[in-house]
Amino acid sequence: MEHYIDIHSHILPGVDDGAKDMEMTMAMIDLAYSQGVRVMIATPHYYPGHVRHPKEYMDSVFQETVSAVKEKYGDFTILPGNEIYFREGALEKLQSKRLHSMADTPYVLLEFSPGAQYKHLCGAVRKCVECGFYPILAHIERYQCLWKNEKCIGELVRMGAYMQVNAENFTGGFFSAQRRWCLRLAREGLMHFIGSDAHNTQERRPNLNQAADYLKEKLDEAAFRRIMFDNPAKLLRGEYLK
Ligand SMILES: [Fe+2]
Repeated sequence: MEHYIDIHSHILPGVDDGAKDMEMTMAMIDLAYSQGVRVMIATPHYYPGHVRHPKEYMDSVFQETVSAVKEKYGDFTILPGNEIYFREGALEKLQSKRLHSMADTPYVLLEFSPGAQYKHLCGAVRKCVECGFYPILAHIERYQCLWKNEKCIGELVRMGAYMQVNAENFTGGFFSAQRRWCLRLAREGLMHFIGSDAHNTQERRPNLNQAADYLKEKLDEAAFRRIMFDNPAKLLRGEYLK
């Protein structure tokens, strides 16, 4: 069985609104492992001006988590990252290594407020690309300016952005408008990554396999493989996606 790479997770214990403690972290890892995930990028939130923990503390929690996971699962890898709420100054922090890019590649995971203006997203993408980063927009289904707006999404993609959708969109019922729209994005090549965005073991649990099962049924083989395997593997190697 081919294994999944989960590029978006709040798996580190006690650092943001994700896993409360190491016990929950390990329970989330158990769930992810049982679904076939073998690589997970830890992407704790970073909100400018609301830094709860210094980077040194974050890095020590990351190392502790890596050790705990390795002890239980020799074949499960946790890699560093951040989900960065984009504001002025975030890029400087990335450049000075005060924030993590995705698995130490040029890819960066960016978050915005749901009501963010389209021009703000464009500005963020432009600045990232100018600085040599490859921006991934986290859970694009949340942004009002992009909802059912493939034209704007396409423009951002042409500017150099990659699009991530949360797996939970594919677990809705048959009539879910969200699910239908996300499937359309996948078919049009406007969805590059799926992430669990897992926060806990309850309502925001690791859930990549449900989304994968759905997409396997609905997409052609090449599109399915691109989203679930090829794109995340290229991300880990720091390669551009075509
Ligand atoms: Fe997240």
